[in-house]
Amino acid sequence: MKPNGIKDPFLGSDYSSNSKHKSWSKLLRLLLVLLIISIVGLIYREEVSCWMFREGNHNSGRFKASGADIVESEQGVVAADDGRCSEIGASMLRQGGHAVDAAVATALCLGVVNPMASGIGGGSFMIVRSSATSQTQAFDMRETAPLAASQDMYENNPGANYAGALSMGVPGEIAGLHEAWLKHGRLAWRTLFQPAIKLAKEGFVVAPYLGRHIAKSGGRILNDRGLQEVFAPNGKLLKPGDKCYNEKLAQSLEAVAEQGPQALYNGTVGEMLVKDVSKAGGILTMEDLRNYKVNVVDAVSVNVMGYTISGMPPPSCGTAGMAMVLNILDSYGSSDSAKGNLGLHRIIEALKHMFAARMNLGDPNFVNISSVLSEMLSLSFAKQIQQKIFDNTTFPPDYYMNRYNNCG
Ligand SMILES: *[C@@H]1O[C@H](CO)[C@@H](O)[C@H](O)[C@H]1NC(C)=O
Ligand SMILES: *[C@@H]1O[C@H](CO)[C@@H](O)[C@H](O)[C@H]1NC(C)=O
Ligand SMILES: *[C@@H]1O[C@H](CO)[C@@H](O)[C@H](O)[C@H]1NC(C)=O
Repeated sequence: MKPNGIKDPFLGSDYSSNSKHKSWSKLLRLLLVLLIISIVGLIYREEVSCWMFREGNHNSGRFKASGADIVESEQGVVAADDGRCSEIGASMLRQGGHAVDAAVATALCLGVVNPMASGIGGGSFMIVRSSATSQTQAFDMRETAPLAASQDMYENNPGANYAGALSMGVPGEIAGLHEAWLKHGRLAWRTLFQPAIKLAKEGFVVAPYLGRHIAKSGGRILNDRGLQEVFAPNGKLLKPGDKCYNEKLAQSLEAVAEQGPQALYNGTVGEMLVKDVSKAGGILTMEDLRNYKVNVVDAVSVNVMGYTISGMPPPSCGTAGMAMVLNILDSYGSSDSAKGNLGLHRIIEALKHMFAARMNLGDPNFVNISSVLSEMLSLSFAKQIQQKIFDNTTFPPDYYMNRYNNCG
């Protein structure tokens, strides 16, 4: 999940041509946007954890909201990786909704227009800061492993952890969005669903981003009746600019809008899901769905470059990872250090080290990660890493402490 401008601020004229621009605050803003989007946007397994860089070199495909790239408002702003969804979120604010109402409607919209990246079958993170209490809460609605999952379930089946029914977790998004809405929402639950239902039912234009994924997954789509109905309705894969209809998703959204999360977690939508998953060789059960719990904890707060950043605690690595990268760049001691092509090189190298370090993290429910976490946040560690970054070369993978070598 990447915002429109992921490439531009790194490579574009902002850095090289206008010396009045404060590159640091730009970088920080960009990374904050990444963080926020990683929170609102939801994410299939690695996609969130590996940040958004897997496909960060293609940014031309997003739908932009009309008008300028920079939006200012005294009242509120919604930023999603598809302009149509940002607009839907903003419309909730205009109706008197809370930021959480906007986030819910935006996330549901993203699940319709970017179904390869997020959706009600997946999981998500959300950070909410209350202006009234200054309390910042983190909603962990990440997928969890089904009860029948086992440590070695992928051992003889590499790839099954990534694609297919065995790779899926117990979906958390609907439960988490509902939990956040219960605490903060002002609009009716069903109101938040209407724009997404309309898009799914009446059709939406395939953006280049989705179009690329359809093309890439062409074989799989054509081999699956359900996927084919949506993404290749006439036996031909949809292309950017074509209209896509997702009637089944509209029906599921309608059921959850009217009956609440129970429709998925203890009702007909869940039953159909379990049936489909089991037919496809998966292990999800109704018990898994009934047992799903959202974790609500305090957000983590990190101080970086004089700013306090609130973000998602582990199992998300976003906040610690971002802090580590910013601290590495900051340790050059100059606001020019991330400028231009050399700056880009340093950012990439810092990211490689961060990806390696984050492989030592784990789910805090199962692993004690406190020392890894404090190392990732420490200024002296950042300095050590910075000294391992050379301006004239890159290194083979081993150099980046790559213990597992599976995030590349
Ligand atoms: C599931 O629904 C049944 C009624 O259909 C109800 O008795 C039960 O308490 C529900 N379970 C959960 C976990 O909500
Ligand atoms: C986790 O490890 C740290 C030291 O690395 C220790 O101080 C702390 O007590 C441990 N926490 C738990 C819950 O075991
Ligand atoms: C690269 O830079 C390092 C330190 O700045 C220097 O020692 C090394 O000789 C340089 N390597 C090349 C090939 O220029």
